Amino acid sequence: MKPDTRRPLADTTRAVHAGRHDLAELGLHAPPIDLSSTYPTPDLEAAGLSMGSLGAGGRPKGSFIYSRMHNPTVARFEDGIAELEGAEAAVAFGSGMAAITAALLAAADNGKRRHVLAVRPLYGGTDHLLEAGTLGLDVTFTDAAHAAEHIRPDTGLAIAETPGNPTLDLVDIRALATRLGDVPLMLDNTFSTPILQNPLAFGAALALHSATKAIGGHGDVLAGVIACSEAWAERLRKVRVLTGAVLHPLAAYLLHRGLPTLPLRVRAMQATAQVLAERLAAHPGISRVLFPGLRGADPNGLLGRQMRGPGSIMAFEVEGGIEAAARMMKTLQIVTPAVSLGSTDTLIQHPAALTHRSVSEAARRAEGITGGLLRLSVGLEDVEDLWHDLETGLAAAAEVAHPAEMAKA
Ligand SMILES: Cc1ncc(COP(=O)(O)O)c(C=O)c1O
Repeated sequence: MKPDTRRPLADTTRAVHAGRHDLAELGLHAPPIDLSSTYPTPDLEAAGLSMGSLGAGGRPKGSFIYSRMHNPTVARFEDGIAELEGAEAAVAFGSGMAAITAALLAAADNGKRRHVLAVRPLYGGTDHLLEAGTLGLDVTFTDAAHAAEHIRPDTGLAIAETPGNPTLDLVDIRALATRLGDVPLMLDNTFSTPILQNPLAFGAALALHSATKAIGGHGDVLAGVIACSEAWAERLRKVRVLTGAVLHPLAAYLLHRGLPTLPLRVRAMQATAQVLAERLAAHPGISRVLFPGLRGADPNGLLGRQMRGPGSIMAFEVEGGIEAAARMMKTLQIVTPAVSLGSTDTLIQHPAALTHRSVSEAARRAEGITGGLLRLSVGLEDVEDLWHDLETGLAAAAEVAHPAEMAKA
């Protein structure tokens, strides 16, 4: 598709054509998969120039040299994400965690800016990476309201997530970015996808996705991608060349193939999630439901202003703690008990025991990640089929929570 400057295009149109601008010229309809690990370099002088550019994180100048430096199938997926995020560029990695690691290393600038502000709640893997000290960084855990108080001269990056994993806490991106001033903000946009939220438009420097989730959407690809300025992309690509955390072209092909249906999938899952969240909130066996689309869940009015919708992920707390939650998970027939999210099928998982297991107990308690809390990622199944399954699971959980009452009944 040639860029059309006459009128803005809807996201459905952009998602269908994103990253496919060179196909007509190539005489192709579907994107090709380039599995080359190396590329011919018959002209040594020209190849040297391209090698120099790619090694510094730039674009190829002629030969792609080597697939760790550049791969056209991966580049097409990156162009697609950049288009949907409204970014100059995007850089893809072998997983979301590889993308986060690359951003941390790029921001640390060889140790000159090794201080990181981590705004909790964060995905358990991100939290664990930062707390474990694996990358030799200095990390201050904070919340959105107090983040700016911890800025130091060597602060290289702030990381935040909205909606947060798993409590669906919302952060006002513009307010946080403004408070951070010159400190670049990396916003984990995994829960919203580029369809529902574009963090760069609100002052974030980097919009991160675990593309393993809704972008991949079918539970069969592991990937990460960061949308950003070309200047940041150069820094990220340089780290990627050095560390080798590349995305395989077959995975990139699948991710790119899924982009045209992303807006449809996101909106269909979201509509079902809204219905389920409302019914769960009215269910007597549930003490709280965390979902941005529920009344009172968005006190700062971010829905509509920052997010184009509440998404399809929610968390809810069953009465009876971890035993009741475990019984519910075991009873479900349609909903799959599994970590991950954003897939075509509905997934349920127990954050305290699984995704956030490595987060300290004190932090879990402070964030409200309790024994009874379950996270639900709503898929594309029929809403009534899902509700029937959840109701049956909740009845089983009630047998654990209130054994005496159930015996009388
Ligand atoms: C919000 C969020 N960010 C990052 C990640 C890490 O991504 P990946 O599993 O692709 O490495 C996850 C994974 O669950 C996630 O949920």
